[in-house]
Amino acid sequence: MRRFLLTLLAVKAVCSTYVATESPISKAGLLANIGSSGSLSSGAYPGIVIASPSTTNPNYLYTWVRDSSLVFKTLIDQYTLGQDTSLRSLIDSFVQAEATIQQVTNPSGTVSTGGLGEPKFYINETAFEGPWGRPQRDGPALRSTAIITYADWLIADGNTSHVTGTLWPVLQLDLDYVANNWNQTTFDLWEEIDSSSFFTTAVQHRALRQGASLATAIGQTTSASQYTTQADNLLCFLQSYWTPSPGFMTANTGGGRSGIDANTVLASIHTFDVNAGCDDTTFQPCSDKALSNLKTYVDSFRNIYSINFGIIANAAVATGRYQEDVYQGGNPWYLATFAVAEQLYDALIVWNKQGSLTITSTSLGFFQQFDTSLTIGTYTTSSSTFTSLMSAIKTFADGFVAVSAQYTPSDGSLSEQYSRSNGSPLSAIDLTWSYASALTVSAARAGQTSASWGANGLTVSSSCLTSNAPTVSIEFNVNATTLLGENIYLTGSVSALTNWGTSNPILLSSVSYPIWSTTVNLPANTEIQYKYIRIYNGQVTWESDPNNEFTTGASGAQTLNDVWR
Ligand code: NOJ
Ligand code: NOJ
Repeated sequence: MRRFLLTLLAVKAVCSTYVATESPISKAGLLANIGSSGSLSSGAYPGIVIASPSTTNPNYLYTWVRDSSLVFKTLIDQYTLGQDTSLRSLIDSFVQAEATIQQVTNPSGTVSTGGLGEPKFYINETAFEGPWGRPQRDGPALRSTAIITYADWLIADGNTSHVTGTLWPVLQLDLDYVANNWNQTTFDLWEEIDSSSFFTTAVQHRALRQGASLATAIGQTTSASQYTTQADNLLCFLQSYWTPSPGFMTANTGGGRSGIDANTVLASIHTFDVNAGCDDTTFQPCSDKALSNLKTYVDSFRNIYSINFGIIANAAVATGRYQEDVYQGGNPWYLATFAVAEQLYDALIVWNKQGSLTITSTSLGFFQQFDTSLTIGTYTTSSSTFTSLMSAIKTFADGFVAVSAQYTPSDGSLSEQYSRSNGSPLSAIDLTWSYASALTVSAARAGQTSASWGANGLTVSSSCLTSNAPTVSIEFNVNATTLLGENIYLTGSVSALTNWGTSNPILLSSVSYPIWSTTVNLPANTEIQYKYIRIYNGQVTWESDPNNEFTTGASGAQTLNDVWR
C-alpha cells in the first residue's frame, strides 16, 4: 500500500513537471511549423501550417486542412481566452490562407463541386494531384469550428463587420458543404477507410450547431435554419455508431476492423462542451458511453505493444490509432495517448462543476477499474466514493501524460509516433498536431475550457430512432455517358437518399467513367426506390420511369450495376 501511494505521488509529480516544461516547448514547436516566419517551415505561405518538417519517410511537407484547423483552434482558444494576445495577425493570416485554399481547384473538385473535401495541399497553396484518400469531409467542419470561435469573439468585441465581411464568406462555403454532403461517405481522419466515420460525423454536427448560431447572430436566417435541420439529422445519425457490446463507438462503418479507434476519443475531446454535462447523445467526455468507449479503446492496446506488457490492468498504457494499424510500424501516437488524458481531465472538470458523478450500467466497467465494489448510482461531493473516484481518475489521467513523458526525448520534441517495443520516437518529427495535443491536454489538466458550442439541451428526435436500425452498405454503379460539365447524381425514397431531393442529391464519382459510382449506407431489410439524375448547367434530367427498385439485405454489402435509362 505504501509503495502504491508513492507510485501515485510519483506519477503526479512526473506529470506536473512534464506539463510545465513541455508546454513552452510545444508552443514553440507549433509556431515553428507555421509560415511564413516559422523557423522549420521555410517555403510555407503566411498562415499555412505544415504537418511536419519531415520530407522523407514520411513526407509531411504539406498542409492538411484537418491538422491546420486543429492547430489553429488551439491558438484561437489561447487568443480568445486572453492568454496570448500576440496571436491576432497569425490568426488573420490563417483565415486568409484557408480562404485561398478553398478556391484552389483540386482532384476533389472546384470550390462548388466538392473541392472543399480535399484533405491536403502543397505549402505554397497549390493543389496536390497525386493519388490520396479523398475526399475527407472533416476538414471543412474543423476549419469552421476554429474560425467561428474567432468570429464569436470578434462579435463580442464589437467587430461584427470583420465577421460579416471577411469570415462569413469563408465559413458559409464550408458550412454549406457540410450541410449538403454530410450523408455521403468520406475517408476517415486516418485517410484509409471510405465509409461513414464517427469523428467526421461528430465534428460536422458541432460545426453546424455553431454555424447556425453564428448565422442567427448576423442575420443569415436561411442558412441558420438549413444548418439546424442538418445538425438535427447529424445528431440522429451520430447515435447509430454505438455498439452495445462491449460498449464502444464503432469508428468507421466500413473497413473490416474491430472499429475500436482513437477516432472516437478525439471526437469526444474535440466536441467537449463544458455546459453539456455528461450528455451521451453528444458523447461528452464524462458520458457513460464515452467512458465505456474509452476503456474499450485503452484496453485494446494492453496486449499488443510490448512497452505495455506487465503494466497492471487499471494503469495507464501507451495508446495509438487502432490495434490493427501498420502505418510506419503501427506504433503508439503521442496525440492519441494525450487524448485519453484529455478526455479524463474534461470529465473531471464537469464532475467537479456539477458536484456529482453518476455510474450507469454502461459506465460501470469503466468505474470498477478503480474499485470493483462500486455499484450503479449517483455520488455527490459529500460522499467518500466521489472523493476517492475523483482522485483515482485524476491519477489515471496523469498516468497517460506520464507515459508520453517517459517516451519524450530530453529536448522535448514530439514526433508522430513512439516505438511499440522501446518507446523511441518514430515517423514524422516535430508533428505540429502532436504539439497542439500537448497544449490542449495541459490546458484541460489545469481545468481550462474553451467556449461552449451549444451541445446543452439538444434532443434526438424520436422519428430518428428508427434510423438506429442496422444499415447495409450499397454500392451504386451506373453506366452513363455524359457531356463535359454534366454530372450524375442519385436520389431516392429514403432519407439517406435525400427523400427524392434534387437540390441536394448524391453526386456520383466518375473515376471509372463511363461508370459513375457511390456507396451509401441504407436501412437493412428495406424496399428502396431510386433514380439517377443528371444535372447540366443547373438543369435536372431524371431517368425515365419506372423507378428502380430493390430490397436491402439484413447485413453486409450489396452492389448494384445499372445502365442509365
Ligand atoms: C498516409 C496517411 O497519412 C496515413 O494516415 C495512412 O495510414 C497511410 N497513408 C497508409 O494508408
Ligand atoms: C497521417 C494522419 O493519419 C492524418 O490524420 C494526418 O492528417 C496526417 N498524417 C498529417 O499529419
